[in-house]
Amino acid sequence: MAVKLSVRKSDAAALDVPLLVIALAKPAELPAELRALDEHLGGTLSRTLSRRDFRGDRDETLHLSGGTKGPARLLLVGLGKTTDRPLALKRAAAIAARQAGRLGAAEIAFTAPGIDAAGVEQAAVGLLAGSWEYRELKTPVPVDERREPLRNASIVVPDEKDAREALAAGEAIGAGQALARRLAMMPGNLCTPDYLEQTAREIASRHKLGVTVFGREEMEKRKMGSFLSVAQATPQEPKLVTLEYRGGAKGDQPVVLVGKGLCFDTGGISIKPAQGMEMMKFDMCGAAGVLGAMEAIAQLAPKVNVVGIIGATTNMPSGTAIKPGDVVQAASGTFIEIINTDAEGRLVLADLLHYAKEFDPAAVIDAATLTGACVIALGNTASGVFGSDEGLVAEVLAAGKRAGEPGWQLPLWDDYKDLIKSDTGDIKNSGGRSAGSITAALFLKEFTGEYPWVHMDIAGTAYSESDLVAIPKGPTGVPVGTFVEFVRRRAG
Ligand code: BES
Ligand code: MN
Ligand code: ZN
Repeated sequence: MAVKLSVRKSDAAALDVPLLVIALAKPAELPAELRALDEHLGGTLSRTLSRRDFRGDRDETLHLSGGTKGPARLLLVGLGKTTDRPLALKRAAAIAARQAGRLGAAEIAFTAPGIDAAGVEQAAVGLLAGSWEYRELKTPVPVDERREPLRNASIVVPDEKDAREALAAGEAIGAGQALARRLAMMPGNLCTPDYLEQTAREIASRHKLGVTVFGREEMEKRKMGSFLSVAQATPQEPKLVTLEYRGGAKGDQPVVLVGKGLCFDTGGISIKPAQGMEMMKFDMCGAAGVLGAMEAIAQLAPKVNVVGIIGATTNMPSGTAIKPGDVVQAASGTFIEIINTDAEGRLVLADLLHYAKEFDPAAVIDAATLTGACVIALGNTASGVFGSDEGLVAEVLAAGKRAGEPGWQLPLWDDYKDLIKSDTGDIKNSGGRSAGSITAALFLKEFTGEYPWVHMDIAGTAYSESDLVAIPKGPTGVPVGTFVEFVRRRAG
């Protein structure tokens, strides 16, 4: 169960909670709001700070014991020397929620002196992110050995009324990210194209969104030979799912979000090495990001039309699989020579980007765990951002920055196009190792329309193979925040 969040106006000394979290920037000083608490604790806080036992460094934590009344324990969390306070609060809140889980504190109060609405929103996102867990496939720990999970978290605010709206926004984003992370964490035998479809239908029915699903037959009718060439090796029905949120006026051109949904990517006939292949259950993080964003957007209800499109299938080697050298025809008519069956994401996206034209989009943004080359270039810190429209690129980069999901633009110059020229067909699906993320993006560009378009390569950012302090190893929730921030700003 997700943590229940609330906002409350209270003096910290009077909070009867198992754990009080105090977020402080560097250099850490005792804020006026905590003087009464410090007195109540016989000066522990001021002594701790003057001794410099706690300095407020980013990610620094210090655990203190409370008094007989009021908070039972205190956790100081450092914000560092910060220029972006809301994002620092998100990080501190996530660290605090994780720590609460380790301590078995079922209830916490989060204080950050001087917190404003933007801070409340991000603290809420952080509390939800930090308490997120995927335990569905673990045998429950016996009750007497179990630490209590975090159930209630309140954010201490100067005015409850002002903070409520910000809390609701943070909860919406947190719910979208939690959904995306759960889908990503689910193994490929459970998170199938059918399951993604079912999840999309469930989001649609809860929020009254439009939903359309194409299976193999409908895709054949639409001559989506590129997407279908990936799906031809698996007995699972491929699914192209479209969700439509109508928050804007009837004729308003929609923002279209597109996600790669490879429920598992073995590489196909160009099979991947066994080492680490299990990570390829995360190859549907683009699609999970679209579904998570649609959930958050439906909760936030911005005045803009948004369409979410996901392409779900599984890339398998089999007797019916595509082979290197095969040529397939995309819905756009383009002949694609398959050089490497492991470059399958772009084959799925090609038909989705062509299909997006039907919606007469104001903008199309796709997200895909597309290339290992992007992980080499930017690591786990920034997503690769490519676009045919500089204005839209700037908007997406700014949205990512606000969400704490940084992107970095890479070139989409025609100079690289020779690398994917095909001898047999029009274009080949792999240009080899050099500029691998750029040639993948250039491939996608072939299938976009007149619409402004941005591609985000989230191969390095959607999940992490190591613990990230605020986020455990596994899915991060990227790109939900970027999508949501983009759409909110478009709504004005
Ligand atoms: N899903 C992978 C990309 C990927 C790799 C994501 C590592 C996350 C971590 C994608 O389908 C793929 O296999 N791409 C190939 C393309 C190549 C064959 C041109 C790659 O990056 O090696
Ligand atoms: Mn692949
Ligand atoms: Zn893939």
